[in-house]
Amino acid sequence: MPMNSTRRDAPLATMRLAAITYAADLTNLFEFRPIDGAQVTPFEAGSHIDLHLPNGLVRQYSLTNSQDETHRYVVGVKRDPRSRGGSSYAYEKLTVGTVLQVGGPRNNFRLVESASHTVLVAGGIGITPIRSMLLRLQSAARSWELHYATRTRNEMAFADELAGFGDRVHLHVDAESAGAVLDVRAVVAAAAPTAHLYCCGPAPMLASFEEATQSRPHEHVHIERFTPKAPVASAGGYVVELARSGRRVRIADGQTILEALRAQGINAPSSCEQGICGACETKVLAGVPDHRDTILSPQEQATHSTMMICCSGSKSDVLVLDL
Ligand code: FES
Repeated sequence: MPMNSTRRDAPLATMRLAAITYAADLTNLFEFRPIDGAQVTPFEAGSHIDLHLPNGLVRQYSLTNSQDETHRYVVGVKRDPRSRGGSSYAYEKLTVGTVLQVGGPRNNFRLVESASHTVLVAGGIGITPIRSMLLRLQSAARSWELHYATRTRNEMAFADELAGFGDRVHLHVDAESAGAVLDVRAVVAAAAPTAHLYCCGPAPMLASFEEATQSRPHEHVHIERFTPKAPVASAGGYVVELARSGRRVRIADGQTILEALRAQGINAPSSCEQGICGACETKVLAGVPDHRDTILSPQEQATHSTMMICCSGSKSDVLVLDL
C-alpha cells in the first residue's frame, strides 16, 4: 500500500447468503452473492470482508475462493466455543437466504506475485486466505509450497483439493505426530533467501513464524492476524485536531480517539475496533501516534503517516488528523 493512503475506503454491498457447506469439523463455508445478481467488487487473494451481522456485530472473515470468481465471496467460519457473538451467531442464526450488508473487500495480506518462490504456512482456520493465495499462484504458474497444520485430520479443510497439488503441499496433523505441532522454524530455515513467506494461523504458530523469520527482509515476510497484538492505548490527556473542520477534541484517560470523536457527535469509519481490519485508518498530518494496531508494518508505523484511531493513541500533546 502506498504510504499515506488508507485502507478504509471499503464500500458496503447488500448480499444474500447463498449457501452454507461443510468444510471440516467445526468449519463451514459461507457463500455470499450480490442480491441483484451483479458482480462482486473485485478482490485479490489475501483480502477479507466485513460481515455486518443482523445482531449488530461486525466481523472480519478472509475470502477463501479464487480471485478470478466474480459472482461470489466465500469465507470460512470456525465455530469458536469462546465466540463473542460472531461465529456462534453465524452458526446458530444465519440461514441460507439471509440478506446482510457486506463491507470490503480490504486487503492487509497482499500476495507478491513476482516472488521467485512462495512459502505458505497455515494453521487451522488460517487456511482460508492461504487457499485463495495458492489458487492464485497456481493459476499464474508461480512457484509455491504449502505447509498446513491442524490438530486432527477431520479439522483439515480442502483436503481433497489440496491432495491434487501433489508434493507442493505438506500436511501436518498434530494427533498423528504424537501431538507435536508443525516445526515452523524448520520450514522457514529450508526456504530460499529470496522466497516470500506467508503465515496465518493460531497465535503460537504466528509467534514461531515471527521469530523464525526475524533475520529475513521484512518485505519478504507476511502475517495475517485476527486477534489484536497489543492492548488499546488507554492514556489520554492529549488533543486531536481535525484538520478539515479545525475542531479540537481532548482525549480522556481510558478513551480511544474513535470513542472521543463519537462522544462529540463526529462520525468516523470503523469496523473491528480492535486494530485488526484497517477500516478506521486515518492520515496523520502532525504529531506522533502511539501505534497499537496489528495491520501496519513496523516500517509503516515508523513513518507516522497513518494510524488506526480505534486503538492507537498519541505520544505527542497534539495529533493533527486528516478528518
Ligand atoms: S476499526 Fe478495524 S482497525 Fe480500527
